[in-house]
Amino acid sequence: MDTGLKTHVLPAGAAATATAAGVLAEGGLVAFPTETVYGLGADAGNAGAIARLYEAKGRPAFNPLIAHVADLAAARRIALFDGQALRLAEAFWPGPLTLVLPKALSCPVAELATAGLDTVAIRVPAHKVARDIIKTFGGAVVAPSANLSGHVSPTTAEHVSGDLAGRIDLIIDGGPVEVGVESTIVGCFSDPVLLRPGGLTREEIERVLGHPLQSPPQDAESEGQPVAPGMLASHYAPRTPVRLNASDVHVGEALLAFGRSKVARSECASVVMNLSESGDLAEAAANLFGYLRTLDKRNADAIAVVPIPEDGLGEAINDRLRRAAVGRS
Ligand code: TXA
Ligand code: MG
Repeated sequence: MDTGLKTHVLPAGAAATATAAGVLAEGGLVAFPTETVYGLGADAGNAGAIARLYEAKGRPAFNPLIAHVADLAAARRIALFDGQALRLAEAFWPGPLTLVLPKALSCPVAELATAGLDTVAIRVPAHKVARDIIKTFGGAVVAPSANLSGHVSPTTAEHVSGDLAGRIDLIIDGGPVEVGVESTIVGCFSDPVLLRPGGLTREEIERVLGHPLQSPPQDAESEGQPVAPGMLASHYAPRTPVRLNASDVHVGEALLAFGRSKVARSECASVVMNLSESGDLAEAAANLFGYLRTLDKRNADAIAVVPIPEDGLGEAINDRLRRAAVGRS
């Protein structure tokens, strides 16, 4: 798997920011923390760099990327905002919200990054390290989650190097991320559509819109090009089978618990991790991917997961768990 490329790791700071911006300008690939998960950045205008990014992740090129920019003004040079899109951007940027919008006429994002669609996904991250790198670089940075395609998203620099060392130029280590699940993606068409539940809750978005978010068409995934192609069912799968809504534990299973919910035969579990002892969904979201990675290494027969409430961040947590449970084909 190693391409022989030397991947440098730098602690976040002024020197690392300058180096990262320089590597991006030369067409290189730089992983950096955002508040949601670590991203793998490339110059959004450089098709060669983007081709290398798809290759480094093993990502199908029909799965488009999110353009990360410094502020709303920069976003408006890339895409067209209607009234509802503007309201969402003003309420939630910088933050864990991605908007899918019609491309502006002279959209500077390379066609390869948008997979030939006439829409583009944009986000203004809140993490200081991400913001500093984007500002110093001076342009849009496309950044998928910094994992191999099909693996769970990285929430630490160690996760990134576990997947991508030898395949990318630079990793900026800014410590563990805060949110732990990817951004919420809203398609701003005539009626805003929730394309991917994520780090910003449906409730918060609907409060600003003043009406419910629409759901994507049911048959979207079966038609080959899903509305948010990263939502391919197998996307978040660990190697170990995942068993959802477990009310008991089978011998040889690992247990992923939440709060103080009671599980029958929990003494049968080979290992137990609790997403949040106190039943805090934000804490659970922050722990989710790291715990899945850890449990995946324990050679358990399966990972049994207790039921998680569906409100607030629970919607994104349950979405990722369902995808993990489908497994990879
Ligand atoms: O939190 C996040 O969003 C992280 C950090 C690094 O910003 N990024 C991230 O990127 O999760 P990625 O590539 O792993 O997921 C982006 C998702 C994919 O499901 C992709 O299919 C979808 O966004 N997407 C991108 N452009 C799109 C478009 N024009 N229309 C619909 N979906 C799009
Ligand atoms: Mg991803």
